Amino acid sequence: MSFFSAVDVITTKRDGDVLSDGAIAWILDAYVRGEVAEEQMSSLLMAIYFNGLSVDELNCWTDRMIESGERLDLSGLSRPTVDKHSTGGVGDKISLVLAPLVASCGAAVPQLSGRGLGHTGGTLDKLESIPGWRAFLSNDEVRHQLDTIGAVICAAGQGLAPVDRKLYSLRDVTGTVESIPLISSSIMSKKIAEGTHALVLDVKVGRGAFIKTVERARELATTMVALGASHGVATVAQLTSMDAPLGRAVGNALEVTEAVDVLKGNGPSDVRELTVELARIMLQLVDIHVDPASKLDDGSAYEVYRQMIQAQGGDPDAQLPTATFREEVISSADGIVESIDALSVGVASWRLGAGRARKEDPVSAAAGVVCLVREGEAITKGQPLFELHADDAAHLQAGGDAIANAVVVGERPVNAKPLLMERITN
Ligand code: URA
Repeated sequence: MSFFSAVDVITTKRDGDVLSDGAIAWILDAYVRGEVAEEQMSSLLMAIYFNGLSVDELNCWTDRMIESGERLDLSGLSRPTVDKHSTGGVGDKISLVLAPLVASCGAAVPQLSGRGLGHTGGTLDKLESIPGWRAFLSNDEVRHQLDTIGAVICAAGQGLAPVDRKLYSLRDVTGTVESIPLISSSIMSKKIAEGTHALVLDVKVGRGAFIKTVERARELATTMVALGASHGVATVAQLTSMDAPLGRAVGNALEVTEAVDVLKGNGPSDVRELTVELARIMLQLVDIHVDPASKLDDGSAYEVYRQMIQAQGGDPDAQLPTATFREEVISSADGIVESIDALSVGVASWRLGAGRARKEDPVSAAAGVVCLVREGEAITKGQPLFELHADDAAHLQAGGDAIANAVVVGERPVNAKPLLMERITN
């Protein structure tokens, strides 16, 4: 490989010029080897934050991230593979229902997932509330489970796009997380390396999402869909509203219980609606013509869920952990629920113990929030709005403070924004 100077690479991007493939390949490799200093990569990330990456630069950057590690080979499976990625929301337990649901329709779903950070929960944290359930599988175990059961939700191996971990930690402390090319390459490099044939992106927009406006969400979705297509992964993005929490339960075990309700054909209508719609898009991408709603209603999706949990050591019939302390938050007014702020509910759940501030922090399986009212509902003064769950009485106070103003009560019925917004295809 040719040698480049880190300062030249930084100043090229700082001045708004285009980086050559060679320069991108060199700087990412040299950064992994420790030859490019953290402060130099920080400067380059900031230059990218301000000046962006062209389509060619972004494709090359993403390729080099993928090539920094291993690629899972899922080509020998008997079923087509299709995955889903969500940009993260409050009460987002969709993966727990969607993976077994799509598997029950005949596809294989390799959901290599992460843990939660901040106010949004992580799928692995939720499943770890099931006694015995194991997040870490070998690549052979992943392939075997996909072939036999059709669904795997497990920890993404350290070998997938390892440079992303190093870059993400640096972005986190240098104010460069919110860059569309950096977010897109980070998410898509891991999904492409995972080996899926097709991918649906659930891009969350609103108060409880890290993207607040539809314009930004559209830009992110369009960039990721194009990256998928240029890497041979058929990708569709669905923009969905994240102003209010999804469903009623927020918190690890609480969300597993709600997901199981949906798998049994019950549960909150918004969780079912979004899961079924994402399943339809996933099945279309792999040319399977089955109505997913019927698989929730006839018990097939729940049966696949049970097998998926058992295959990873979990007991689907086990009693999930419950909180020692519970407290209700009461309405101080009569009226109609105009809005429920997902961000306040997410922060409350985190303060109650369900989330973590740093990667190494433990989480409580039992802590969280149950939303007792929905947007548009008529309520009376003194009616309970939320139930707070915690293992530690001191956390109840912190959670209560965070959620105190989460509900806006008005006088007239409001038209809630639709959950399903735009769809972006290539
Ligand atoms: N999730 C990721 O994996 N990467 C980002 O950059 C942002 C969200």
